[in-house]
Order: sequence, then C-alpha cells, then structure tokens
Amino acid sequence: MSSEAAATRPRVLSGITATGKLHIGNYIGALSVWAREQDRFENYFFIADLHALTIPENIQPDALRERVTEIVALYVACGLDVDKSVLFLQSRVPAHASLAWIFNCVTPIGWLERMTQYKSKSDRANPSAGLLTYPSLMAADILLYQPDFVPVGDDQRQHIELTRNIAQRFNSMFGEAFSIPEPMIRTSGARIMGLDDPNVKMSKSLAESRDGHAVGLLDPPNKIRKTIMRSVTDSGTEVRGDGLGAGVENLLVLHEALTDTTREDSLAEFEGKGYGVLKKALAEVVIEHVSAIQERYNEIRADRSYLDRILAEGAEKAANIADETARNAMRLTGLL
Ligand code: TYM
Repeated sequence: MSSEAAATRPRVLSGITATGKLHIGNYIGALSVWAREQDRFENYFFIADLHALTIPENIQPDALRERVTEIVALYVACGLDVDKSVLFLQSRVPAHASLAWIFNCVTPIGWLERMTQYKSKSDRANPSAGLLTYPSLMAADILLYQPDFVPVGDDQRQHIELTRNIAQRFNSMFGEAFSIPEPMIRTSGARIMGLDDPNVKMSKSLAESRDGHAVGLLDPPNKIRKTIMRSVTDSGTEVRGDGLGAGVENLLVLHEALTDTTREDSLAEFEGKGYGVLKKALAEVVIEHVSAIQERYNEIRADRSYLDRILAEGAEKAANIADETARNAMRLTGLL
C-alpha cells in the first residue's frame, strides 16, 4: 500500500489488555473485525500492558511478559498484516502515560466513578488509583492517534463515550487539540455471553476461574468441543425462533458471526432441531476457525526476535504520530 493511499483512508485504533487468555468473544467483537476491515483503514492496534497493572494483586512480571508475546503472535495469527497495520505495545510509546496524566488533571473524579467497569471491579479490598483512572489512560491511547473510528466490543462503549467527553472538555479548556472519534461496534456479536452462564459477558477474568466459561483462542479441539457441548441453554429441547432463551441466542450469534450468516440463515438451518445439533455444528465451526489461527500461531510464536521486531518497528511508527499530538497538548497546557 502506498503511503499516499493510506493517508486518504480513515484511521482506526484499538487495543486489548494484556490480562488473561484471549477468547472467542475478543476475536468476534474485536480482532476479526480489525483483520477483515484492514484494507479500508489506516490501522493502529496495540497491546495495553499499562492497563494490565491496574489490579496490582494480579501482577506477575514473567507472566505479563509472556502474555504480551502471546498476544502479538495472536494478532498476526488472526490476520493482522504488518504491512497494513501498525502493531505496538502501549508502554513503549511513553506519550500514552504522559497524556494520561494531563487527562487525569482535566477529568472530574465523578466521571470516572460512574464507569460501570470501575464499579464492577472496585468492590475488591483497596482498589488502586490506576483502576479508577483506567479510562483516562484509555482516552490518551485513543486521542493520541486522532482516529476516526475505534472498533471495539459493546462493553467498551461507555469508555469511548467518556473519551469523547474528555476530548471535548480539553478542547474547550485549552483549544482544539483532539478530533472526536466514533465507536465502531458490530450490530450482532459485539457482546458474546458466557457459555456457562448466558447472563454474563464472556470475560478473560471469569475464564481464569471457571472452566466452561469461554472458548480460548489457544484451546485444543477436544476442550472446545466439551465446552460447547456442555454450554448452558434452557429447559427447552429444540431451537424455536419465536422463543429463544439467552443461551441458545448466544450459540446462534456465535454461529452466525463465524459463518458470516444471518439469523434467517441460521433459523433455516436449525429451527426445530435439537440443541445438540446446533452445539455440534457450532463446535465444528469454532474448531475450524481456531485451528487455522493456531496453525499460524504455532509457526510464529517461537520466533521471539520476529515478534520483538514487529513491536519495535510498530512503536517507532506509533510514536511518530503520538508524540506530535502529545507535544501539542503540552504546548496548549503550558508544559512546553
Ligand atoms: P479487553 O482486553 O477487555 O477486550 C478486548 C476487545 O474485545 C472486546 N470484547 C468482547 N467482544 C464481544 N464479546 C465479548 N464477550 C467481549 N469481551 C471483550 C472488547 O470490547 C475489546 O474491544 N479497555 C480495553 C482495552 C483498551 C482499549 C484502549 C481499547 C485500552 N485502551 C483504546 C480500545 C481503544 C479492554 O480492556 O479490552
């Protein structure tokens, strides 16, 4: 792609926090969309390692380093192409942390306390200040790159709304520094639910403690089959389009997202069939997808120097843009 062509495309930026194992919800809600739309956009994707520190009880230095390598390998294995997308590690671009500090100073505490993710995670003893200010770091991640769109799953909607509010507040206090990005959220598949409980979102943290909760992108086929065959549905026995419980709905959404089909298509295939038929078909589709990802993953995961090079080159390209925005914010606030 010539840089001229890239420059005329709208820009997207997104990231994944380096905590826990990536699951099929991360793939459907985020990664698969990033990979599929790469030719339409100028792309920046990063691994949020600074955000991984916000729950200090969970910090394991060696595991964090391993996780970062695992995620960059998964980015590539899921189809992100380094010729089309800049892949980088958040902590290697220091402008993220410095702009986050400026945002901490212009963001009312009340805005941060209202975040549902903070409310759900802060019931632990002694939540860290970083957990509260997590969204202003996320605002910095985004606004440094002046993206047009931020492709994420539904759970990040509120954080992006806050990012827009922080940008507007900064602009009105100090001058127009930041463009206002739009979230890019798929209409179906943006909120994959837990396979052991279709009333909670599939999450990396629940997957750590609950065996049947998620399908991990690196799970072996027999584990995937078992998780899906045992997934919680409801007391019914067959798929009925006019009375779908949350569990069957979730299985249909997964199937549709991975086969790129509509509800009409999937009801034509599964209406009147037993839940077991749907589960079996879904297990095969998931295994087919995940196996292709794992094959590519296994080829590159051992090549540490290749993965390090991707991140080193990515950091340099990312910093070119981020540093300029950060310097502008520093000038406008009197730091420069
Ligand atoms: P994280 O790491 O929790 O999730 C990464 C991406 O996966 C999406 N996702 C889901 N989509 C569908 N169904 C699910 N069950 C599901 N679970 C997760 C998330 O919406 C997300 O798109 N705060 C962010 C990371 C971040 C970020 C950013 C994202 C930091 N800075 C700047 C965008 C822009 C997070 O923890 O995502």
